[in-house]
Amino acid sequence: MKTLFYNIKELFQVRENNTEILKGSQMKELPSIKNAFLVVENDLIADYGAMENAPAEYDESVDVSGRMIMPSYIDSHTHIVYAGNREQEFVDRINGLSYDEIYQRGGGILNSVEKLRKASEDELYIDAANRLEELIALGTGVIEIKSGYGLSLEAELKMLRVIKKLQEKYPVKIKATFLGAHAIPPEFKGNQSGFVTAICNEMIPEIAQSGLADYVDAFLETGYFTVEETQKIIQAATKHGLKAKIHVNQFTAINGVAMCVEENVLSVDHLEIVTDADIAALQKGRTIPVALPTCSYFISIPYTPARKMLEANLPLVIASDYNPGTTPSGNMNFVVATACIKMKMTPEEAFNAATLNAAYALEVQNEYGSITKGKKASFFITKPIHSIYAIPYNFGSDLVETVYLNGK
Ligand code: NIG
Ligand code: FE
Repeated sequence: MKTLFYNIKELFQVRENNTEILKGSQMKELPSIKNAFLVVENDLIADYGAMENAPAEYDESVDVSGRMIMPSYIDSHTHIVYAGNREQEFVDRINGLSYDEIYQRGGGILNSVEKLRKASEDELYIDAANRLEELIALGTGVIEIKSGYGLSLEAELKMLRVIKKLQEKYPVKIKATFLGAHAIPPEFKGNQSGFVTAICNEMIPEIAQSGLADYVDAFLETGYFTVEETQKIIQAATKHGLKAKIHVNQFTAINGVAMCVEENVLSVDHLEIVTDADIAALQKGRTIPVALPTCSYFISIPYTPARKMLEANLPLVIASDYNPGTTPSGNMNFVVATACIKMKMTPEEAFNAATLNAAYALEVQNEYGSITKGKKASFFITKPIHSIYAIPYNFGSDLVETVYLNGK
């Protein structure tokens, strides 16, 4: 089955091949073809080019006049499996409490843990599937989903099974991450080292064995998990064949980034607070920095210093962090807009950070992230727009008209 998309006003992120993540000034270029065609054969991109070279033979054709095509967003950091909501904490923050004060009162992550433990697997699945369907319609084609609201082996496995069911039912590519070290559950209160030992010696081996997780994560932060504890968790994961992606530098910089780079973790995510030492550490390794601009937006904390990091020739990824506490939205169009408006990334840089570079943060760069022959035909078609700048410019509008995932 060969489908021709023709009269595409502009086809974006066109790369003959890609071998490396984009760094620093390389992120300025978002290669495109104006007045283009695209041929999809079954689930793959078979050909593309300028309209005058469009093929005459195909089984089906789609007129894309006035519209633009972008490869699907890759959201490399979400927590979309959760129970209930945290609307009251949202209002409490408006009235003056901080994220940390809410956690100290037993709210925050532990509020979601309490709700998740009570929820059935079916309830969790229905809610997460609804969220995923909304994100698909907004252009996301690849997504990472974390556990981390169970904090016991049983409840974490329940979350990971929900993610597996989503993988089986939806045509989006999903990667699963075990986030056992997200907070200290009530049964380990006052015994943090016991909880870390349980994660390393009991949970990680079981979860690796189950095959339900691709990665391991931890919340390295003052008041949550220390550099040493996180290092133990990364090493236990490595021993069981799982790479790590780490929440770090959301509120404080405590030399966690350097340790993560030394341990060769795949990505360090959040980075609202970044020191010169953190930048120097990132320059030395292959660990990918991931910014979460809509988290900064929602809980009013600093934004990742994108300009400083790009000037230091680092790569950058942006993701949503969709979760009930700090970012109850997974709209990648708004993530791109926020990166442009608040982090002073150009639209070209932001789209690179949300597509091609994000593919590296989930190790799917050979299949997704660009319009490249042989990659998956996962992309979105915009409504009629003047330029692709409309997406961040009209930040409150939904300009995604049609979505194709694996050619369908
Ligand atoms: O990425 N900071 C740690 N984890 C989440 C928030 C979790 C929550 O508040 O439920 C985050 O922002
Ligand atoms: Fe997160």
